[in-house]
Amino acid sequence: MAQLHGVDLIKKKRQGKKIVMLTAYDALLARALDAAEVDVILVGDSIGNVFCGNTDTLSVTLDQMVYHSKAVSGAVSHALVVGDLPFMSYHIGVEQARASAGRLVQEGRVQAVKMEVSPYLLPAVQAVCEIGIPVMAHIGFTPHSVHQLGGYKVQGRDSQQAETLQSLAVALEAVGCFALVLEMVPASLATAITAQLSIPTLGIGAGAGCDGQVLVTQDMLGLTPHSPKFTKRYADFGTGIQHAVSAFRSEVASGFFPGSEHGF
Ligand code: KIV
Repeated sequence: MAQLHGVDLIKKKRQGKKIVMLTAYDALLARALDAAEVDVILVGDSIGNVFCGNTDTLSVTLDQMVYHSKAVSGAVSHALVVGDLPFMSYHIGVEQARASAGRLVQEGRVQAVKMEVSPYLLPAVQAVCEIGIPVMAHIGFTPHSVHQLGGYKVQGRDSQQAETLQSLAVALEAVGCFALVLEMVPASLATAITAQLSIPTLGIGAGAGCDGQVLVTQDMLGLTPHSPKFTKRYADFGTGIQHAVSAFRSEVASGFFPGSEHGF
């Protein structure tokens, strides 16, 4: 199966086929997601929460993203691999945005980058698109702005906020983005934005009217202690790991492991 590209996602939207996107930060998980035929693997800066155990994504660095993107890209042969540009890697100006996106592509080997966007950051997004790097934009609740937004809150509830998001979505398509993540916005607004755009929308806490859905893999696998309301847990691997480790601990303590078949 050939590797997917941004244009293939636009084709899927036209054909009315839903797009499936999950996160990975390492080769092992990326290989499993690719084998399960997800369309997009995002090396998300949610690595700050999930992998590093922080309460936000703000301290994630571009070096970290390059390192993990390389691990994921090397393990994937079908899915489109998207690398997240972290906080302050494109906020200073268009030159910085191009240089940071270029590093994720050249060193991290991703096929596209994701950028959290406010109207102020449109020129940075355009600058990256202009040098031929596909950009997936991310609007609604944007974790880089968690302090300004006053916490993890649904965005676009009032009509003024909704209009701002809607016109930002249109502007992002106009500057050349190939897809748009909508995080924590009312389902009716996400549906309206989806209908207005030719590029696909990927919802996370944005209802069923989007062209596809994205979740943090460790949330949906039940590996994180708490998961947001919009996540569905498809497995409880956190408990599974505890059971396996307890079994190992008691077998080592009792001398049952290793058996003769495990020796040389
Ligand atoms: O960093 C991330 O994993 C994300 C997804 C939740 C969309 O931005």
